[in-house]
Amino acid sequence: MVISVILFLAFLVGPTSVASSDTFSPHDEYLLDCGATAIATLAGGRKFKPDQLMGSFLSSKQDIKISVPFADVPLPIYLLSARIFVEESVYSFPIKRSGWHWVRLHFYPIKNPKFNLQDAEFAVSADNLVLLHSFNVHNNSQWILKEFLVNVTTTKDFSLKFSPMKNRMAFVNAIELVSAPNSIITDVGSSLDPVGNFSGLESFSYQTLFRVNVGGPLISSQSDPLGRTWTTEEAFIRDKLFAKSVSVSPSAVTYSKEEYELIAPRSLYASASQTADYRTNSMFNITWNFDMELAFGYLIRVHFCDIVSHSLHELLFNVYINGKTAISALDLSTETGNLSVAFFKDIVVNAKLVPDNQLTLQVGPMNHQNGSLDAILNGVELFKMKNLVNSLDEEFHVNGGTKSIARSNWNTAAIVGFTLLLGALVFLASIVFKFHCLLLFGGGDNIEEESPLNTVSNEVAPTMTVNNSLGSQKKWLHSSGMEFSRCFSFSELQKATNNFDEKLKIGEGGFGSVYGVEIDDGTKVAVKRGNPMIEQGIHEFKNEIETLCKIWHKNLLRLIGFCAENLEMILVLEFVSGGTLRDHLYGKNMPTMTWKQRLEICIGAANGLDYLHRGTGIIHRDVKTSNILLDETNGSFTAKISDFGFSKNAPIIGKSHVTTVVKGSAGYLDPDYFRTEKLTLMSDVYSFGVVLFEVLCSRPAFDGKLPEEQIKLADWALQCKRKGLLHDIIDPVLVGVIDPESMKIFVETAEECLAEHGVKRPTMTKVVWQLEKALQLQGKTEEESGTSVAAIASPGVGTVPTTSTSTNPPVSQPDEI
Ligand SMILES: *[C@@H]1O[C@H](CO)[C@@H](O)[C@H](O)[C@H]1NC(C)=O
Ligand SMILES: *[C@@H]1O[C@H](CO)[C@@H](O)[C@H](O)[C@H]1NC(C)=O
Ligand SMILES: *[C@@H]1O[C@H](CO)[C@@H](O)[C@H](O)[C@H]1NC(C)=O
Ligand SMILES: *[C@@H]1O[C@H](CO)[C@@H](O)[C@H](O)[C@H]1NC(C)=O
Ligand SMILES: *[C@@H]1O[C@H](CO)[C@@H](O)[C@H](O)[C@H]1NC(C)=O
Ligand SMILES: *[C@@H]1O[C@H](CO)[C@@H](O)[C@H](O)[C@H]1NC(C)=O
Ligand SMILES: *[C@@H]1O[C@H](CO)[C@@H](O)[C@H](O)[C@H]1NC(C)=O
Ligand SMILES: *[C@@H]1O[C@H](CO)[C@@H](O)[C@H](O)[C@H]1NC(C)=O
Repeated sequence: MVISVILFLAFLVGPTSVASSDTFSPHDEYLLDCGATAIATLAGGRKFKPDQLMGSFLSSKQDIKISVPFADVPLPIYLLSARIFVEESVYSFPIKRSGWHWVRLHFYPIKNPKFNLQDAEFAVSADNLVLLHSFNVHNNSQWILKEFLVNVTTTKDFSLKFSPMKNRMAFVNAIELVSAPNSIITDVGSSLDPVGNFSGLESFSYQTLFRVNVGGPLISSQSDPLGRTWTTEEAFIRDKLFAKSVSVSPSAVTYSKEEYELIAPRSLYASASQTADYRTNSMFNITWNFDMELAFGYLIRVHFCDIVSHSLHELLFNVYINGKTAISALDLSTETGNLSVAFFKDIVVNAKLVPDNQLTLQVGPMNHQNGSLDAILNGVELFKMKNLVNSLDEEFHVNGGTKSIARSNWNTAAIVGFTLLLGALVFLASIVFKFHCLLLFGGGDNIEEESPLNTVSNEVAPTMTVNNSLGSQKKWLHSSGMEFSRCFSFSELQKATNNFDEKLKIGEGGFGSVYGVEIDDGTKVAVKRGNPMIEQGIHEFKNEIETLCKIWHKNLLRLIGFCAENLEMILVLEFVSGGTLRDHLYGKNMPTMTWKQRLEICIGAANGLDYLHRGTGIIHRDVKTSNILLDETNGSFTAKISDFGFSKNAPIIGKSHVTTVVKGSAGYLDPDYFRTEKLTLMSDVYSFGVVLFEVLCSRPAFDGKLPEEQIKLADWALQCKRKGLLHDIIDPVLVGVIDPESMKIFVETAEECLAEHGVKRPTMTKVVWQLEKALQLQGKTEEESGTSVAAIASPGVGTVPTTSTSTNPPVSQPDEI
């Protein structure tokens, strides 16, 4: 929204007085005014041609266009018409020269009597790259610009495909496809966690999220040699008192290399925000905040130009990203050799550093007594990096909803990961170790048998070598989240766990013991050590790594690294402070949880499973309350599903199930699966239904000490429900507190999940919706009834943020299998 408002301003402002001497003549330049009948000439001289004139570019069976003579607010003329697609349609652009290209898509839902463009929902892909997955303008009636930077490698035509979702339409008002200079991206940047060089930036594609002229005015697309818009910092800067704007004449700015002139215009470097004198002699940072998306890596380009110093080496400051030092002791004079010379730096940030959608950029003085207290920033750009399924929007591959495509690519991604992994292992190997690799990774056993493994993709997974206190380590990219998993040495983990000290043990699983320890930088982790004597353990270990490598979600326990040395099998996992859901519900005398807390935990866990099912096509196979861990911060719980040792890829297309040996835990086992030995995603849904009743009743799913009819909670609860006696078995602390409507929808959901036959059960997506409804209903009664109920709920319990998909509820529900 911010972007649209600013764009609108950009249009009003028009060309600024800053004449740019830096020019660039693109080899390819297509400016299309979609659905228009006449050429739209802009103030700056750029001409948007009707896509009709370029008729041969568009292959579409329909010819639906709309246009309006004028808009309520001043807008560029090319927004006043649009082309509408009710079926998949493709624009093909002949490419003169391959290399970087800007793709800019303009959306403006024109009000017209025929179509409500706010209802449109669609995907856009460029060759095999997903640009938008299920894009929807919602009730936003403003101009939305989506800008992408894509390395066009095809020698044939470049295609831009618009695919409406089922029963919806797609539209677009204008398209720009313009060559960008090669120098726009340099291959090596610095990475923040771990600190090191990051190479491979040229192999990514990008979406521009923010582009800010810090401390200065808006720079419109007409004033930028590459047609970029630079917004003001207004919407991002946190405490304006701490910063003052400074500016010089753009002609004072120089570049150290000619090719840098296109990186950003002089006018960007000619203004900055500088530390204000507001609290003389005290040190403080200037801070900017940006809203980001979950589970993507980002490229952050910071621009500096020392326009404030009177002599060299006066300025010395730090740059922080989300609290971590991104650039330490930056001395622009040393970097550039003079004052007023443009300088920029690329910093790669992985998803782990952006855990709650917020990115904070800070500049502040160095921590020493007599230095300058100043810091500056001239500009910043934030780009989203495509993930390993070649998408810039969620975890779906080009063919959108079809899971199988996404899955096969996940597999190729995993193969790439494993190729690298094997490489790294061999690289580190001793003979014994190699033998072990064979044992561990060789012999395609039952795990892969049903995976649609095709050719290894030519996807480049950049690798990175980092030297730190622990010596040289190989790290590699393994998931969409750009998370690096790390190969730990056995001695390192032996030291960290104090030689696997019993006192540090925090859990015991079928697979081995779990220790809670700190590693190098004080990060708390859970070290899970398998028992190599159990052959089953090897399968589970391998399976768990393989699954963990493919997933990234805040409600699924994260893999940090592993060690496969000396016949050891050790996983290093995210540390979760609050214990298991089971322990909170019964048996451990922990403080009872409110209904709202329970609902939030269930929603979190359901979101995690939904992601697992839809995003990766993996069946967990062991969903139970003791595998749902709770991360506690300030009385608020985040559910994290753990233990992927049994997980399995869901059946491939054309095959409705996987036949396997039945595995699972007593009380949670899907009777349909038990009978048929045919595994589907719906088996997880059944187990989740049991979890829901467990949460409601605070008793184990299976309790052999109880009378026969009560042993299995699933059966007993359904029996009570049918007799209308549910109130007798729910957790007594909830009686009178639960809103009856909230309970009704909760119980109905649980009952649907426990349907005898898999096909009758809801998808996890639906379960999430229904639980969110139950939470809303509970929230409503608590507001109405005042404090009595709210007082029980611990403070700080907010609504659990839903997955990244929830803002665009998917129209096409995953087909049940
Ligand atoms: C739609 O607009 C209404 C009011 O203008 C707002 O409350 C609501 O949140 C908007 N919905 C979306 C999905 O943006
Ligand atoms: C674009 O990709 C091709 C093939 O991966 C590569 O050879 C070329 O250097 C890239 N171009 C740029 C400008 O990075
Ligand atoms: C990163 O790359 C730069 C230049 O390419 C080099 O000078 C520097 O030593 C590298 N740093 C590390 C940690 O490898
Ligand atoms: C600036 O921010 C960083 C990271 O958030 C912090 O470590 C540092 O102490 C701050 N500096 C000052 C002077 O507040
Ligand atoms: C630094 O910039 C000033 C002003 O532009 C110029 O006169 C001077 O020659 C430059 N010094 C160096 C070492 O380039
Ligand atoms: C602090 O100032 C003293 C004298 O002005 C100087 O010798 C010293 O190098 C300065 N320290 C730093 C860290 O700049
Ligand atoms: C890492 O350290 C090793 C040995 O200490 C050295 O040979 C290697 O060049 C270093 N790598 C980098 C990228 O600095
Ligand atoms: C937890 O509470 C403390 C003190 O109230 C606060 O500073 C901190 O930011 C809170 N943490 C989270 C994650 O909400």
